[in-house]
Amino acid sequence: MAETTEQTPHTRTASYLAEPSEVRRVLLLYSGGLDTSVMLKWIADEYEADVVTLTVNLGQPGEDYAAVEAKARQIGAVECHTIDAREEFAHDFVLPAIKANALYGGGYPLFTALGRPLIAKLAVDVARRTGCDTIAHGCTGKGNDQVRIEATIATLAPELKVIAPVRGWQMGREEEMEYARKHGIPLKTGTEIQPYSIDDNLWGRSSEGRWIEDLDHAPDDDVFQLVTPPERAPDEPQVVHVGFERGVPVSLDGESLGLVDLLERISDVGCRHGVGIVDHIEDRIVGLKVRDIYEVPAAAIVLLAHQELEKLVGTIHQNQFKPGLERQWAYLVYAGLWWEPLRGDLDAFMQRVNEQVTGTIGVKLFKGSARVVTRSSPNAVYDQSLASFAESGGLFSQQASPGFIELWSLQSRMAHQLRERNQASGG
Ligand code: ARG
Repeated sequence: MAETTEQTPHTRTASYLAEPSEVRRVLLLYSGGLDTSVMLKWIADEYEADVVTLTVNLGQPGEDYAAVEAKARQIGAVECHTIDAREEFAHDFVLPAIKANALYGGGYPLFTALGRPLIAKLAVDVARRTGCDTIAHGCTGKGNDQVRIEATIATLAPELKVIAPVRGWQMGREEEMEYARKHGIPLKTGTEIQPYSIDDNLWGRSSEGRWIEDLDHAPDDDVFQLVTPPERAPDEPQVVHVGFERGVPVSLDGESLGLVDLLERISDVGCRHGVGIVDHIEDRIVGLKVRDIYEVPAAAIVLLAHQELEKLVGTIHQNQFKPGLERQWAYLVYAGLWWEPLRGDLDAFMQRVNEQVTGTIGVKLFKGSARVVTRSSPNAVYDQSLASFAESGGLFSQQASPGFIELWSLQSRMAHQLRERNQASGG
């Protein structure tokens, strides 16, 4: 078998892709949806391989994991694993994103991009534990997710191979349904079938496909399965107080909560008030430009509050400098390079800055908007008596300002005058 591989290296486009002859036992990343259900049966038949499934709970709202496992068994999985990774996801992936105020392209809080490296890492762990030689996933060849998952596997487990059947099998939705019917794979019924391509976890939800691809089409309300459309949100505003300790969100309205609970609770209030809808044009790492509809109620509130608090405790120099590093952090994570050492270097910086980020921010939620209304922090670089108009004098001598202005503007004035003189003399 191994000889076949050596004779036909040209058929492989990457060293980590599996040749059919190498595939004996496959760890399939299984969601329970149509693609991966068809895939389970398809792999078992095409490769004559055993299929072990792994389903990862990252806080997808309303998912029934027992039903997902039962379905995998019914289709023929030899072993089924479900991992509740919400704590790890929240602490090791979402939290660094909060400290880095991470938004890609000005609007995407990266929930999918943060989830993929963790899912792939868990796939590596389970594949090794259960004696699998290959990991299979359901990503298409057009998206970012294949990059994130395969880059993680190739980084963490050079000995494991990958197959990505959707990239090659040329089945569309109809063909997949036909395949499922033919092989007795249970289909969800009627209204349960998602009309959009969905991905979600506790940090957000995305929808793609159908009219979303038509840039001229304003969002139909049926896409919003999480957030209440703002026009139907309550007529009464609500102020929520988010407390932080060293950059970690730790309380809601004075009640201390663990990170997962806190994010879920904030998500619920945000949903009720129509907060966190993002209609986003995005530059994918594989070159395509696409439109995504995001529902990110928790991120919309937590990132806003965190950023505001950071602004209050940081100096002008820190506040000017950090956004550049934040953009680089978000880009690396978006682009599937979670394991790149630079990300860790940047995290060390973010961590250090966040040691001062303690305090509470009040955010007013009302019909789709979230606005900061109150701020308090023991570390605020803010002195009310200095800022006050009523109390002039004292430590801050306004008489000193003109001297400062003269020196501060010195080079700019000289350069400006030089240019004017040169222009006048026709130079
Ligand atoms: N555009 C987002 C990203 O690249 C969301 C992708 C959602 N993934 C999915 N398989 N539907 O991270």
